[in-house]
Amino acid sequence: MGARMCVAVNPNLVAMEYAVRGPIPMRAAELEAAGRRTIPCNIGNPQALGQAPISFYRQVISLLEDPGRLGRERRLRATSGVAPGDLVDEYVLDVAEGMLARMRTGMGAYTESKGPRFIREAVAAYIDRRDALGPGAVPLADPEMIFLTNGASEGAMFVLEILIGGPDDGVMIPIPQYPLYSAAIRRCGGAQVDYHPDEERGWALERHVLEASYAEASARGVKVKAIVVINPGNPTGAILDLASITDVIDFAEAHGLVIIADEVYQHNVYGGEFISFARVLAERPVGLFSLHSTSKGFYGECGHRGGYLEVRNPPQIEGHELSFVDVLLKRASVSLCPNTVGQAMTYLMVAEPREGSSPWARFVAERDAVLAALFEKATMIREAFGQMRGVECFGPVGAMYLFPRLSGLPEGTTDFDYCMALLEETGLCTVNGSGFHQAPGTSHLRIAFLPPKELLAEVLPRWIAFHNRYVG
Ligand SMILES: Cc1ncc(COP(=O)(O)O)c(C=O)c1O
Repeated sequence: MGARMCVAVNPNLVAMEYAVRGPIPMRAAELEAAGRRTIPCNIGNPQALGQAPISFYRQVISLLEDPGRLGRERRLRATSGVAPGDLVDEYVLDVAEGMLARMRTGMGAYTESKGPRFIREAVAAYIDRRDALGPGAVPLADPEMIFLTNGASEGAMFVLEILIGGPDDGVMIPIPQYPLYSAAIRRCGGAQVDYHPDEERGWALERHVLEASYAEASARGVKVKAIVVINPGNPTGAILDLASITDVIDFAEAHGLVIIADEVYQHNVYGGEFISFARVLAERPVGLFSLHSTSKGFYGECGHRGGYLEVRNPPQIEGHELSFVDVLLKRASVSLCPNTVGQAMTYLMVAEPREGSSPWARFVAERDAVLAALFEKATMIREAFGQMRGVECFGPVGAMYLFPRLSGLPEGTTDFDYCMALLEETGLCTVNGSGFHQAPGTSHLRIAFLPPKELLAEVLPRWIAFHNRYVG
């Protein structure tokens, strides 16, 4: 055999880490291949664990992808002898037909790089509705400041790529954090600046914590440009209160930073209240990039890769007659456009079926059942923690995760060892806290509360037994 070719590559990509798909899930894949059953709780991928898609979304999307069916369905309606139950609902036909008319070029063509204007208008209307701008209020969300994306990950990546121009450009991220951010900062060759929400106060944020991390980074020569906030949190599940959000905005304004608000779990709050950064920002002159996605909430359409990025107060680009949005558009144009199914899903996410329309009751029932089941499953797991020695879990339940603190792991073992042993013994695939860069000296794990209840009921007693034996 000849010598293998060697190539020098971008070292940032080689150094990049992504624990959610790291060694523990890789081992789970090996176990599966060897015939063992595993339970993938390492990632917020609801449909992989049996969550059924919302029927209305899929009915519309199947018509968009097969527009010939629209005509066939209409013709069948005119045929006697076809039972109404065998036909697609007329409202669904109308929605699909309306979307195709406004898309003009159908699902197989490139669209505008930002996505079609009618979808961006629907997103803007959703944001203003969500943020409870009363009737007659001046709309704050602008369709021209909205970019449809292939999932929220792409939106985050676009912003970070533009912001980070060199190794001293810093981005503040919460610790623990969703590894998209550490990986993206690494890939762009920037400086990661950690800040630590207060775990025992339900992961609340305080201004002095942000100031301390900013001062520490500045002292080592880092020019901090942005702060990332994940609300509700991943991996913590934390839901930020108004005081925390206000502190972040005050802090960003004082230091001239932009805020990247990752709000992909905005429909995953169980008991608490989701408050958007856009709502609290109102008309203050702070740059804000808000991200949302079709992957989470009750829709859970991860594979369809839909989402949007909304920009408020885009900064000017230093030394150029350009706004941040001009560069974003250039960046988006290089990828031509986000995928059209994801765009359609994003439209459906923000434009629910009309209240009282024929699909409405089923839509509401499916939505409420998914959210209720998620909360029930989170509660089952939290209750199990009560029977595990040294396990504490802080804050209300949000997002799709619990992030318990593990105290008293045997000397010389880490949370990685614990999660690996848990996988080997029970088949539960979780992620070790160190994969999210937790506070030094602490140990955690993250579990997505997605498996079916029956499976949890079976595995939780085995986890409790494993845990109490492991910690001794
Ligand atoms: C906080 C957070 N942001 C972004 C993403 C990625 O979302 P998307 O599938 O829209 O790219 C995830 C996925 O788990 C997430 O947890």
